[in-house]
Amino acid sequence: MAFLSSNTVYRGIDPALGSDTGANPTVLHEEKILSQLPACLPDKTQNILVTSKASELKFQRRNWKKDTLKKSSYNRFKFGKDVQKQIKDRLSFVKANNLTLDTVTQEDFRLPSLAKDMASLRHTLDDGVGFLILDTGLSSSLTEEEFEIVGWSVCNYFGQIMRQGIDHDLRLFTVADKGTANTDPTRIGASAKRSAKHSDNGCLEPRPPCYLGLFCYQASNSGGDSTIISAQTILRTIIDERPDLLPYYFQNYHFRVPQSHIWPSKGPTVEKPLMEFRNGELQIHYARVMISPGMEMAGLSLTCEQIEALDFLDDVIERSELNFKTLLKQGELLVINNLAFLHGRDAFTPGMESGRILKRFWMWRRHIGPGTDPMLLDLAELADQEQ
Ligand SMILES: [Fe+2]
Repeated sequence: MAFLSSNTVYRGIDPALGSDTGANPTVLHEEKILSQLPACLPDKTQNILVTSKASELKFQRRNWKKDTLKKSSYNRFKFGKDVQKQIKDRLSFVKANNLTLDTVTQEDFRLPSLAKDMASLRHTLDDGVGFLILDTGLSSSLTEEEFEIVGWSVCNYFGQIMRQGIDHDLRLFTVADKGTANTDPTRIGASAKRSAKHSDNGCLEPRPPCYLGLFCYQASNSGGDSTIISAQTILRTIIDERPDLLPYYFQNYHFRVPQSHIWPSKGPTVEKPLMEFRNGELQIHYARVMISPGMEMAGLSLTCEQIEALDFLDDVIERSELNFKTLLKQGELLVINNLAFLHGRDAFTPGMESGRILKRFWMWRRHIGPGTDPMLLDLAELADQEQ
């Protein structure tokens, strides 16, 4: 099949089509878009093109590249003196009552000055550029546990904190070079190596984390830059350059589950598509390092076309002009929408003196859809299966 340029695919389509309000004129617009596509495309590809266009219109701020992002400043947020004072007060309370990372609760660490800004911060993650850098201004005089407690408490304002292991890492995971102690090839976060772009898949749970928080406890002296790319930018690039590969990204693949995230009662892989549309939103699930071994474990092998699609995806996600890049400083908290963006990391110098230490948090949103209310969640996700 000949490759189509974006001009060919979308020739004549009004860029003002659609609405970023999420209202349903999208359906009418999809019909209009569909009528303007070349008839030679397979149905599945046509459906992806139509849904993708509607999604781009609904989440317009996600369509960024490095250059377009430079013009926006709403992805940085500095904690004011009032928030810093409340953090100090709460840490005094924690200390006076011998609370620990494991015993502190939401009620022990209320930050009303931060709460005032949370709606707009969450909005940036959900409907804006998809990530935030919070400069907490915390001094390096905090103990590591105090730092972890602050990170947990701030991230708890974004969403419900998820466990990252069955009987360990219940509140956070420390991302640092674990040296030879790390023998799991899927756990790049425990090494100083470059981490190729991926989503955090949270394989213990049926639902991946909505948000990922990386709180910098110790900055790297050399390397370790964080990189972020939008799923919409990835898909747009594929549509423009290799639309023939589109269906392969919406197929299911087996992911090899990291060793410490395997349920004893379940198999070593989880199955899901690399990309999917949910309620009009493009979501992405990816980690190449988990896919080839995952397919092997499931007794399957990738087809030539699938390998070509994965190789092209790897090429696109590493293009520097499509990525945001930043080197986190001590006290900075990077929060990313983990459903619609991929993140990665450059290699850094290992060793405790100059190594990079991040406290990682995973969060489920409480403020969108059924949130974390068990009744609403079951009704939304399980009620149909019961019938
Ligand atoms: Fe990650």
